[in-house]
Amino acid sequence: MEKHLQQFEFSVYDDITGLNDADAWLLNEAREVTQHAYAPYSHFQVGAVMRLVNGEIIAGSNQENASFPIGLCAERVALAAAASVYPEVAIETIAISYHNVNGESGHPISPCGICRQSLAETENRQQEPIRLILGGLSGKVFIIERANDLLPLGFSGSELSI
Ligand code: THU
Repeated sequence: MEKHLQQFEFSVYDDITGLNDADAWLLNEAREVTQHAYAPYSHFQVGAVMRLVNGEIIAGSNQENASFPIGLCAERVALAAAASVYPEVAIETIAISYHNVNGESGHPISPCGICRQSLAETENRQQEPIRLILGGLSGKVFIIERANDLLPLGFSGSELSI
């Protein structure tokens, strides 16, 4: 028996002012896009804005439903939009922010498990890393260099090949 250790490194900034201009702009867009969320049930509004390698910007926000399980997270709305409009163009960076209407919004949140799986698939498909910028409406900002870092030992399509 062997023990294996898997860990990853990410950057932590005190606030948005530590980011370069392009990253700060993208995070500010994600903060704005939280206002487009349809979240009448959770009152937790999430914005995800991505920059593609061709410079195009694609946004998504969470879209809830009275039938709760069919609600969509902001990340997967944005991923589906990008893949539909620019199917051949890789995603370079995605900024994710949120507005917790009934609580505080001053620390980063990290994508849910289903979104991690979707992000990992997209990254595997495009064979280029997807950077993640995670931040609330204020406060610390995390930068993660590749989506697969968030899904250690993840399941991927390579397992399905014969
Ligand atoms: N949500 C997202 O949009 N992204 C995440 O990464 C976490 C959660 C949404 C789903 C739901 O509409 C609300 O936030 C509360 O869970």
